[in-house]
Amino acid sequence: MPIAIASDHGGFQLKEDLKEFLLKRGEDLLDLGTNTDSMVDYPEYGRKVAEKVSRGEVEKGILICGTGIGMSIVANKFPGIRAALVTNEFMARMAKEHNDANILVLGGRVTDNENSRRLVEIWLSTKFAGERHQRRLEMIKEIERKLGE
Ligand code: RB5
Repeated sequence: MPIAIASDHGGFQLKEDLKEFLLKRGEDLLDLGTNTDSMVDYPEYGRKVAEKVSRGEVEKGILICGTGIGMSIVANKFPGIRAALVTNEFMARMAKEHNDANILVLGGRVTDNENSRRLVEIWLSTKFAGERHQRRLEMIKEIERKLGE
């Protein structure tokens, strides 16, 4: 299954760099845009990736805007999405180990290319710890279920 990736203009340059890194790592990618650094609206691109993950069409996604904040807000509106904005290695590891984040969010104006590659690598290679963390994810699912009634 490919990793879906998208950005707005604030994350475009970082997206292109991460694509090169991920392709070299042997990952299959689904690039859902944007394809230039012209100004676009991040909700449109956040939605593209979050919908695919939420529907189970892909398992994982990466979203990038200027700060990562807008993309996180959008992605976490979708059922089953656990989007984590990470800015350091500890957060990248915890995003997977404790939260089983299915979308990694980065800020193209916050984290440089080299550090972003490192954060993506950590998120991809870390395993979800399960146990008490699984119970907490079930609690989140239950909140979603109740809100959807
Ligand atoms: C675009 O200027 C900027 O607002 C966007 O990239 C992102 O940072 C929003 O959260």
